[in-house]
Parts: sequence; C-alpha cells; structure tokens
Amino acid sequence: MRGVTVWIFTFISLILNESLAVYYYYIEHPIDLSHPIDENTIFSDSSETVRVSTLAKTKIYTQYIVYQEQCLPEHGSTHVDAPRHFNKNGWTISDIPLYLLMVEGVHIDVSAEVNNNENFILQPHHLINWERKHGSLPNPCIMLINFGWSWRYKQRVLYTNERDGIRYFPGLSKEAALWIVHTGKVVGIGVDTMSIDPGNSTSFDAHRILSHFNIYSIESINYPNAKSKYQRKFDARFEHIPTLPPRGFNLYVLPTNFIDGTGAPARVVATSNLHTCNGTPSISYMFNIVLTMCILFQKIIKTIV
Ligand SMILES: *[C@@H]1O[C@H](CO)[C@@H](O)[C@H](O)[C@H]1NC(C)=O
Repeated sequence: MRGVTVWIFTFISLILNESLAVYYYYIEHPIDLSHPIDENTIFSDSSETVRVSTLAKTKIYTQYIVYQEQCLPEHGSTHVDAPRHFNKNGWTISDIPLYLLMVEGVHIDVSAEVNNNENFILQPHHLINWERKHGSLPNPCIMLINFGWSWRYKQRVLYTNERDGIRYFPGLSKEAALWIVHTGKVVGIGVDTMSIDPGNSTSFDAHRILSHFNIYSIESINYPNAKSKYQRKFDARFEHIPTLPPRGFNLYVLPTNFIDGTGAPARVVATSNLHTCNGTPSISYMFNIVLTMCILFQKIIKTIV
C-alpha cells in the first residue's frame, strides 16, 4: 500500500513537472540574436557602410600581428537605441545600467499574423493575447517582437523595402507603446525591423513614448530560427536550429559602451533560464531538484510514509 502511495506521488510529480516544463521553456544552447557586421550591414542611413582597413604598420615585429580599423555609424546592424536618441534628457548608451541589459526575455511572435504585410501595425490586443496564452509578463523583462522580417536582412532591398524614399515595414502602434509603458515591467523592446515605429512613420510615436520612460529599443534583431513549426517538423535541415521559446530565457544585450552614444551595435544572446539573471534558481530548476531527490530516495520516503 505504501509503495503505491510513493508511485502515485511520483506520477503526480512527473505530470506537474511536465506541465511546468511546458510553461518554463528550456533552451539548451545560447542563441545569437544579432546579425554579423560586414560589408552587407544595413544602417539607419542607407548610404552608410562599414569601412574596414588594414592599417599599414611601420614597425617590424618578429611574430605575426595584424590590426584593422573598423569604422561604422552607431545605428546599424543589430543595435541598441539609447533613450537619448529621441529624448534629450534620456539615458545615453553608457547611462543604461548593466542590470537592465541582462534580464529575462519574452518572445512575442506575430509573424503568422503579419504574413509579410508591410503595413502591419502591432496593437495592444496582440500583447494581451500573448499574455492570455503564455501568462503575464515577467518583471522586469525585455520584450522581443517577431514580425517575421529578419530573414529579409540578407537582401537589403527586401529589408528596407523602400519606394520613393519611403520605407515600408511593420512596427508598433502608439497604443501598443503606451500599453507597454503602463505594464511597468518592460525595460527594453526588440524588433526584427530597422525601427520600432512602422517604416513610413513620420511621428515616431513608439520611439518618443518609450524613450520618455528610459525604455531602450533593440533594432534589427536576428531570429536565426525564423522557420515555421511546420517546416521544422518536416524538413530535417531545420531540426537542429534552436527555437526561441515564447518565454523562459534570459537575454544578454551588450551594446559597445560608447560614452554618450545615442546607439551602439550590440551582441544579443538568449540563454537558458535554469538560473535567473539575478542568480537565484528558477522554479522549474528547484522543482526538478525536489523531484530527482524524491525518486532517488524513494526507499527512504517509503519507510516514512
Ligand atoms: C503608411 O502607409 C499606410 C499604407 O500605405 C497608410 O495607410 C498610412 O497612412 C501611412 N502612414 C503614414 C504616416 O504615412
């Protein structure tokens, strides 16, 4: 009878653990969410490029040594927009505290709704729907929006999508920006387009609202796994590509520390949240320890029950 109790207990634990595992997603390897910087790098000012030169060295060294010079504008590739970009009293790149750049992330994938529509505008109901499905936003968090636009980056014309000097790509509505501010939980917003505002915006509402509250943005995020679940299931080539889950990961956003910079290229990496950014074990991690102990020490429990 006691043995049965132990097995029932273990069974319930396993079910609980499974449901927690679904809620608290787990990524095995770090995922690089940034584009590389090379001759194809896209800048806010389309006329800009990366200029790389190998400096002529006059000194003769006895061993191999090489220096290069890389010149590039602040706002290009995957980069952080400091609040100062749109708010003269806002934080510059060097003002953003490090602890707000290492925060739990959420991934709001609206790529199916966007369906390559260049006029798509993110509304509060998209964010509310995400919360209904995946639970309320962690506090604090960095919110990554996936418009399904990052695959275009390799083809500049498709990415900037410019006609008669006007760009067309999805972005945040003024209402969505206000909704985000009102949660009081979001420290940064990432998008896979060149701007958090819609491509043809001239009022830059999202930029102005978020930077007023010192919320930084990350533009031109790269989702390397931007393949649909369907493709991943039926095309073995995509099987090994890690998926960024809706939640349950930490983000490390590391812009180059330009003093008084209004923006800076950034390496953005998602990692497992087995340990949260502030060093305390996450709930699923603690639960797994308890479960493992229960299974290992079944015999001991048996004598107690
Ligand atoms: C952007 O383009 C869309 C579709 O062409 C249009 O409805 C909208 O008014 C434009 N917005 C601005 C600010 O020009």
